[in-house]
Amino acid sequence: MVVGVGARTGVRAEEVLAAVDAVLPPRSGPVRLATLDTRAAEPGLREAAASRGWPLSGHPAAALVTVPVPTPSDRVAAAVGTASVAEAAALLTGGRLLVAKTVHGRVTVAVAEDADQPHLDADPDHPDADPDHPDTDRDHDVDLRHHGDVEATEGLVDLAVNVRAGTPPAWLRTVLHDAVDASAAYPDPRAARAAVAAAHGRPEAEVLLTAGAAETFTLLARALRPRRAVVVHPSFTEPEAALRAAGHAVERVLLAPPSYRLGDVPTDADLVVLGNPTNPTSVLHAAADVAALARPGRVLVVDEAFADTAPGEPESLAGRTDLPGLLVVRSLTKTWGLAGLRVGYALGPADLVAALAAQQPHWPVSAPALAALVACTTPAARAEAEAAAVALEADRAALLAALPPGVEVVGTPRASFVLLRVPGAARVRAQLRDRGWAVRRGDTFPGLSADHLRVAVRDPDTSRAFATALAEILVTGPQRRDPHPRPPGTAPTPDETS
Ligand SMILES: Cc1ncc(COP(=O)(O)O)c(C=O)c1O
Repeated sequence: MVVGVGARTGVRAEEVLAAVDAVLPPRSGPVRLATLDTRAAEPGLREAAASRGWPLSGHPAAALVTVPVPTPSDRVAAAVGTASVAEAAALLTGGRLLVAKTVHGRVTVAVAEDADQPHLDADPDHPDADPDHPDTDRDHDVDLRHHGDVEATEGLVDLAVNVRAGTPPAWLRTVLHDAVDASAAYPDPRAARAAVAAAHGRPEAEVLLTAGAAETFTLLARALRPRRAVVVHPSFTEPEAALRAAGHAVERVLLAPPSYRLGDVPTDADLVVLGNPTNPTSVLHAAADVAALARPGRVLVVDEAFADTAPGEPESLAGRTDLPGLLVVRSLTKTWGLAGLRVGYALGPADLVAALAAQQPHWPVSAPALAALVACTTPAARAEAEAAAVALEADRAALLAALPPGVEVVGTPRASFVLLRVPGAARVRAQLRDRGWAVRRGDTFPGLSADHLRVAVRDPDTSRAFATALAEILVTGPQRRDPHPRPPGTAPTPDETS
């Protein structure tokens, strides 16, 4: 369904939602909102769309005026040029009008079939007709905003979040404490920007300092107006969530197990997002394969939040200035244990960096976060990170060696976590929790199933203890409650012993 929306300036999200809910037929299937381009930036409209995960598109008055509408209004025609924003926007794709425009206070809505998704039910071979096929807009099928932190509750050994254990190191905590002590002043980003630029051999204008890698995805969603945005999955879900929250339609390219090798990306995609190494598969794509996706007219976003977990960062594109539209996203969260500080950066062409910076609030990165950027880009800190990456390889090998039979390692892990396929993983995860272990569920990643679990690499003793718990659970099988428990001390019946 397309819901065409006309709204007054300052309209609130609840008004929009009440109007849409009043006219949407039951079991409407996927919904998207369409409106005038100048209205698409209206905060209430964006908030309404984001809260339901509905794509929101804005269309120029020049396009809307060409659409004949059944319920024209002279007043609207005089103000906007089209005789009904709601009906013209709903009918723009050429579908049938299902609900003519109705006015709900400051909001006018009309509903039409989405001619871009014409035969969902009629054509069983159409990929959109398959509810398990996750690469379309209608597949708001998973909670993109679920992350491992909600699984790592207090008292459990945390294998759900991939932050390096034992971090931040003492010297970094001292840096942070000193920065907090000096926090009366507003943050000055110059030293941090210079440090990051020097570490990657790039001009300062190509460095964007951010409150964590996640901020970059929101900035991209706000700054860009992609015609065809593609996110390569399975991968970290925030880029897609941020794009959708800003009203952009997102297409998913699903990589196939077990290699998760980079596949075909639509040639006309003007925004492509992928991770390297990829969370949750731990697969490290060859730099040449990733670089081959860059082209003029496209923004290629490579999330390298885990790049420094691979010794030597062999496939990083952070230093590449020759690739058009390449934006590399980095984070201090994982290696330095700074998830709560919110600190990262992005590297890309100066004009793109400037466009993203224009979307940031003033003073976006705190003084302690800036101090961390300076401290973690020194040669000594980089050597420490490299040593941690080397040690991680041995720790990962110990984890893989300890895993019990029946557990499949999916993909070739190259980062600080491994992706496992365990039949009945939902039950296994629950039983692991009972025994004190938190692992990350897989089924909230597009392309993975309820049989997937992601497990962080820890020291070998921890990994072996985890593997023992996992083996016991797999041997025991499902633990069912006996519906007819025998009182203690009574003899088993013949049936029970047979
Ligand atoms: C692949 C990936 N990118 C980015 C992030 C977010 O990083 P930050 O804490 O810097 O926002 C995460 C966090 O889980 C991640 O897994």
